[in-house]
Amino acid sequence: MKASLGLGCWAFGKDFHPDQRDADSVRTVHCALSRGITHFDTAQTYGRGTSEQITGQQVRRFRNRFPREKITIATKLMITRHTDPLSVRRLVKKSIRRLCTSYIDICCIHWPVSGYDMRPVLRELDACRKEGLIRETGLSNFPADDLRALANQYEISWYQGPYSLLWRKPDEQLIPICRDLGIRFCAYSPLANGLLGGASAPEGKTHLLFLQDHIWKHLSPMIQEMKQTVSQISRLTPAQAALLWVMQQPGIDLVLTGARNRTQLEQITAAAQTDLQEDLAAYFDEFSRQCSLLLPQDEDNIFAHRWNRS
Ligand SMILES: NC(=O)c1ccc[n+]([C@@H]2O[C@H](COP(=O)([O-])OP(=O)(O)OC[C@H]3O[C@@H](n4cnc5c(N)ncnc54)[C@H](OP(=O)(O)O)[C@@H]3O)[C@@H](O)[C@H]2O)c1
Repeated sequence: MKASLGLGCWAFGKDFHPDQRDADSVRTVHCALSRGITHFDTAQTYGRGTSEQITGQQVRRFRNRFPREKITIATKLMITRHTDPLSVRRLVKKSIRRLCTSYIDICCIHWPVSGYDMRPVLRELDACRKEGLIRETGLSNFPADDLRALANQYEISWYQGPYSLLWRKPDEQLIPICRDLGIRFCAYSPLANGLLGGASAPEGKTHLLFLQDHIWKHLSPMIQEMKQTVSQISRLTPAQAALLWVMQQPGIDLVLTGARNRTQLEQITAAAQTDLQEDLAAYFDEFSRQCSLLLPQDEDNIFAHRWNRS
């Protein structure tokens, strides 16, 4: 079954998108609501709360047309080595205030932390859930072993990780674990943070593993060729086709588009209602297999973050 589409609100915080205009962020939320998107993903760190604020304010503004109980707001807590687990409840309440709501639907831990025991944090999140401050708990970017171990002890119902034509690593372990344990898999960066979209220049994206010189020199011409092929055999743009392909992959429940203005989102939502033609799907399967051969096997994520297991 095809995954549903959610709106990722990272760009609203402007950390990696300094040219993002608030007016565009606001219009993107409206466009999402009016096109039937009900899932919004943000994080405490996106613009130090700015993204939570813009998203929450706009969802609240339109609550008469789109009632809050029909909307899912997911946010993510950034835990650091210095986080006292007892501060988690305060962090959750801070997000709730910024989101202009009385509860968070899905509260995820954004990243694992080397040598830090997440269990006390998850205990606090359990308590927040029982109190009604959050509805569900999720993990993001955790390695497969940690996901399995923590999900066996705590009620984890969501996992958020990257998935795109350039990054299919979750197929190996994460998605099978999610299926096994009844955890929903939410795919982020379906266009590899924009590399598979319109712009061919990767300026400002040096945080991505794909842009390391020894990888990019092979990957860049492959992506250019892929974009030409899509234009030749399909009416979809490369961005539309690449995102639709992610939505059709087995084991993926939700795909977060990072469309950051109305035009981009309208294109994505239009494509999301179609099905990928078979020859294009087969071409993408092979293209993604070739891309994965370029990537180091021991990388856990597309940002090349590393941590030591606790
Ligand atoms: N849990 C985590 O650690 C984590 C990490 C990353 C993301 N996320 C979540 O996932 C969401 C999506 O991630 P992402 O922003 O990397 O998604 P993405 O969709 O892979 O990349 C977004 C970029 O794609 C380009 N784009 C979007 N729609 C397009 C269209 N119709 N045509 C051409 N290009 C298009 C835009 O590039 P331009 O900027 O060039 O316009 C946009 O900035 C984020 O907003 C966030 O909520 C979570």
